[in-house]
Amino acid sequence: MSIFSIESKRIVITGGSGVLGKEAVNYLLENGAKVCVINRTPEKLKKLLMHWSEKGDVLGFSGDVLDEDFLLSVKKELKEKWGGIDVLINAAGGNKPGAVIQPDSSFFDASISDLREVFDLNLMGTLLPTYVLADLFPEGSNSSIINYSSMAADRAITRVLGYSMAKGSVDIFTKWLAVEFAKKYGEKIRVNAIAPGFFLTEQNERLLTNEDGSLTSRGETIIASTPYGRFGKPEELNGVVHYLSSDASRFVTGVIVPVDGGFSSFSGV
Ligand SMILES: NC(=O)c1ccc[n+]([C@@H]2O[C@H](COP(=O)([O-])OP(=O)(O)OC[C@H]3O[C@@H](n4cnc5c(N)ncnc54)[C@H](O)[C@@H]3O)[C@@H](O)[C@H]2O)c1
Repeated sequence: MSIFSIESKRIVITGGSGVLGKEAVNYLLENGAKVCVINRTPEKLKKLLMHWSEKGDVLGFSGDVLDEDFLLSVKKELKEKWGGIDVLINAAGGNKPGAVIQPDSSFFDASISDLREVFDLNLMGTLLPTYVLADLFPEGSNSSIINYSSMAADRAITRVLGYSMAKGSVDIFTKWLAVEFAKKYGEKIRVNAIAPGFFLTEQNERLLTNEDGSLTSRGETIIASTPYGRFGKPEELNGVVHYLSSDASRFVTGVIVPVDGGFSSFSGV
């Protein structure tokens, strides 16, 4: 079997009904993986599951990634249905208006409760599913955790205060856990992250484009800072999701892979 094969791998993805998550689920099913989707909104999941069940072996659970009891119930069902899992993709994440500094406001106007919520969702919403579900990885196998980071994790991107702090923490959590698992369990569990560049989604649409579809000045700055001169397309993350899910990445742990059209390498000059 090819080291790149992901056929029959049992993959759990949080945020699987989101713009980027949905694309990954489609791709993984098309490539023969078994996929368990976790999202927040039951109606959205129900519709997607009808579509996905025609493509392959798919399960779904709606609940909050910050709710440990919910995650424990998912774990119990997965243990009964699949026996274990091979890959955990932590794609749930997001932002809140009060955690973003608006153009006419300052750091001192930020909402502390929104900052806490954004921090919790992105960091604890990555840590808790890992804490509960990593126990389902089988003994001695090539298991993989893939976290979703961001360009906002590494260098200051204006305005997105809460999100940047949280994704920065996701990066160090990724590296820390990679080392911890390697030291405790040898090569059993890889822990890596993907750092998407700029993709147009519901979350950032109004920050990057105007109602008529033209770019905001922030959108223009981002395009000018991206050597490829465009936003990414959600399906352009699939190659890295595939690689990190497959045994081809079996000696890769603790890395954060940018998928950004060159944004993170560019000085701007
Ligand atoms: N879109 C981008 O340009 C971009 C760039 C960098 C990083 N990211 C990151 O990629 C990931 C996916 O982003 P997206 O654009 O698809 O976002 P999205 O808003 O379209 O989807 C987010 C998903 O997370 C789920 N979710 C949110 N809160 C949840 C909770 N408390 N419990 C359970 N599920 C919850 C939602 O149901 C949804 O399925 C996120 O972590 C995001 O921060 C996105």
